[in-house]
This record gives sequence, C-alpha cells and structure tokens, in this order.
Amino acid sequence: MYTFRWCFYHLIYIDLYPFLSGLCSKLTLVGREQEIKDLENIINRPGQHAIVIGDRGVGKTSLVKLVLSKKRYNDIWRTCDVISSFSHVFKSLLKNCGIDFRQFEESNEIRSLGKIEGSALVIKGAGQLSRKYAEKYRTTPVESLTPWDIYESLKQIQKKCILVLDEYDAIHRGKNPEVFHENLAYTMKILADHSDKCDSKLVVVGVARTSTDLLGKHESIQRSTREIYLQPLRCEHIIDFINLAEKDLNIKFDDDVKQQIAYGSLGYPYYVHLVGLECIEAMLNRDKNKRNILWEDFEIAVKKAVNKAFRAELGKYNAVLRVSDPVEKAIIETLAIIPEMYPKRDKLYLYLKSVYPDVSREEFEAALNRQTQEKRFLFLSKRNDEIRFLDPLMKPFLSDRVLEGKESIKINDVRFLWEEEKSIQIDWNGYQVWLPKSQVKYRKTRGKIIIIPKWLFKKKFNFQKAW
Ligand SMILES: Nc1ncnc2c1ncn2[C@@H]1O[C@H](COP(=O)(O)OP(=O)(O)O)[C@@H](O)[C@H]1O
Ligand SMILES: [Mg+2]
Repeated sequence: MYTFRWCFYHLIYIDLYPFLSGLCSKLTLVGREQEIKDLENIINRPGQHAIVIGDRGVGKTSLVKLVLSKKRYNDIWRTCDVISSFSHVFKSLLKNCGIDFRQFEESNEIRSLGKIEGSALVIKGAGQLSRKYAEKYRTTPVESLTPWDIYESLKQIQKKCILVLDEYDAIHRGKNPEVFHENLAYTMKILADHSDKCDSKLVVVGVARTSTDLLGKHESIQRSTREIYLQPLRCEHIIDFINLAEKDLNIKFDDDVKQQIAYGSLGYPYYVHLVGLECIEAMLNRDKNKRNILWEDFEIAVKKAVNKAFRAELGKYNAVLRVSDPVEKAIIETLAIIPEMYPKRDKLYLYLKSVYPDVSREEFEAALNRQTQEKRFLFLSKRNDEIRFLDPLMKPFLSDRVLEGKESIKINDVRFLWEEEKSIQIDWNGYQVWLPKSQVKYRKTRGKIIIIPKWLFKKKFNFQKAW
C-alpha cells in the first residue's frame, strides 16, 4: 500500500502538486488485520521464527515491512538468489547487523595454518551443544559460516535483530537447496533453544503453499516456527484499497473501472498497484489537469501494465509459449479467460471445446499432460482434479493479454435461458449472465453460438463467481 501510494504521490508530486508531502505517515494495508497481529505475536514471542508464504504479488513483503516498521526493530533484509550460499547470505546479513568479521576471518586463518578443522566460534560454543551437533559443525569447511557461528555472532549484539530472508523460493532453483534448508533449520533451532540469551530471530518469506514446500521437512522447523499464509485479498478489500487511494490522492476512478480492477485483480494487490498506477499516468497524459479515470484510460493502462508484468515477474510465459503447440496454447488461453479460477479437468475441457470446437478429448488430455508434467506451467491437483496456473498471478494478467489480441469471443454450444426486449440471458457451463442484445451477435439454433465483443466480455465475465 505504501509503495502504491508513494508512487501515486510521486507521480502527482512531479506533475501537479510540487508541495505535497507527508506520505510515509500513512502506512496501512487493507484486509490484513489478523495477519499483522499474528506476525507481531510471533516476533514478540521468544524462541519463535516466522515463515510468511503465499502466491507471488499477494503482499508478503509488504506485510513484513509494515510490521517491522511499526516498532523500531533492528530489521536486516536479504533478498535470496540462486547463486548465493548459506554462508554468503548470512555473512551479509550479519555484516549489516554490525558484526565485524575481521576477527572471525583471522581466527579462521590461524586455524587453517594449524590445520585444525571447524571454526573457532564453533569450537568455543560447542560445549553448550549436544555432541551430535558439535561433531556436525566441526566437519564444516573452514571458510563457511555455521549455524552456531550465527548464534554466537547475534548474541554479541545487545539489540534484538530480526533477520528477514525475502524471496526464499529462489533457493530451490539454486545449486544445493537441501544444504541451505538444513543449515537454516539448525540456525532456527539453536536460536530457539537459546532464546533466553539471544532473542534475535528469523523471518523467512517466499512463494509457497506450505512451509514444507518452502523449507523442506525438518522437525526443528516445525517446532520453532509459525507459519502465516496469505490468501489473495477479498474483493471488498480491493475496493477499500482503491477507495483509500482515491481519497488520499484526490482522484476518482469511474465506477466501472474500479469494479473491473477489483474483479480483474482476483485479489492480488500487485495487479491493482500496477494497473492503478498506469491508469493515473494515462489520465495525466490525456489531460494534466484531470482527476477522474475513465474506461479509456483503463484500457491503455491495462495494456501497459500487462506488458510490464510479462517483462518482469511473468516472463516465464513467453518462454513457455515458444515451446507450446496450438492445443497447449488453446488450453492456456481458455484457462486465462474463463470465469472460473480453478476449473475441474472435465469442466475445462467443456470450456475449451466451446471456444475451440475442433480439439478432441485425447488431444486435450495429451496437451494438458505436457503442460502439467513437462513444462510445469499449469498445475493439476491430484486431490480434486482442479487445474490452475502454477503461478496464480498469471491469470489476471494473462486474461487481459489474451483478450487484448482479440476483437471478440465466439462461444459455441451456449445455453440460451431467457430473452427480453433488450437483453438476453445465457448460461456458459454454469456461469449465467445477462447481455445487451444490441452488442452481441447470436444464433440460437444449429451450434448455439454467441459472439461477444472484447470489452463486454471483460466486463461481464469478470470472475465474480470465483470469489
Ligand atoms: N494488503 C494490502 N493492501 C494494499 N496494498 C497492498 C497490500 N498488500 C500488498 N500491497 C501492494 O501490492 C504490491 C505487491 O505486494 P508485495 O508485498 O510486493 O507482494 P509479494 O511480496 O507477496 O510478492 C505492493 O505494491 C504493495 O504495496
Ligand atoms: Mg515479495
């Protein structure tokens, strides 16, 4: 929220109100009251670490930032990447806590010269650990930092430090994720066991469904951590979010734009943030003195936001497209535009068939298999046969992108329910909606076809049912 507002302010600051200030005093996140409390509790409870998980763009980093900014914690951040080792990551964290590594490095040198294995810090502290752990630590290479070293280093600092490892999911794509997870698990355990002497703690943040998905299965992790799972925001919270921005910035989104952003976001504030900013820019480009965002601004904004997202976070889509055949592409496009978030396999086939009537069930199954097993772009739940994008943030952006490339959507085999003078009601695989007759073309016999223009499709098939 604050970044969102900051950027809004920044834009208007440059273009319109050179004297605007005071934005940082208004830190807030909509719809996260419970999660904020939960994280505060974990941070205040001795011997516990936090794991914050959820989809990309759901607000994990923002939640941690907000909570840690409330009190003057000594919070030190590190964004994980695929190349840095455990030692590397923690050395940089500890250096930022103010630990002077010269002493540590010197003692390592002496040890190397004397051919003694294990680090001095480890040996010093090993007496307090069980023999099993002490032996384990002593076998680590001289130049590496061990969990015990980290504890010892943090103990030296009088102040409670909160070490945040953001984007921890990157570790999975690194060289040796298991070693990283194991070291992290021991670090958490040691800090938890000795919280009476050192109450510094870890907050691990990453894209995942469960903490085991993120960190592997370690008993000590289960015992010394608490997990916070962030669901996408509810629709009314997204509306609150936009209302707040309107009030703060003295601008107005037209009602249909506001609704479309809220529905189209599927609860991901990242989407709202990106599209919202582009809307403001489009409005200012239209007329520097305007304060109201129109549907035409929104259309320009969506195009730009989608391009930005696919250049950054969702770049994987372009790579997958290059190696996907037409049936796979048809599945991806169908999944992107249908009003359901997690259709079952059979239902997805019905939707697909109504837009791409030539695809057989066998072709569908084979292509789905390639997307879920080999390319891993889609995810098929074994538990309930539901299909979704592996990265759920893909859907809101991809639906905009797919619709962008079309003038209209032709749906075959639709059920015509009611007809009035000016409108017609249809049922598309259980999704029922009224459409203005003047805007659509339809044939109620042979094929039962309806052709819906892009803008109307966007407005009417906007996932209301899904959440
Ligand atoms: N609860 C919220 N209310 C308002 N804005 C939010 C909320 N959560 C996140 N945001 C905004 O959404 C964007 C994405 O959030 P971020 O924390 O980066 O997501 P993640 O770390 O899960 O990928 C940010 O610009 C942030 O300001
Ligand atoms: Mg983040």
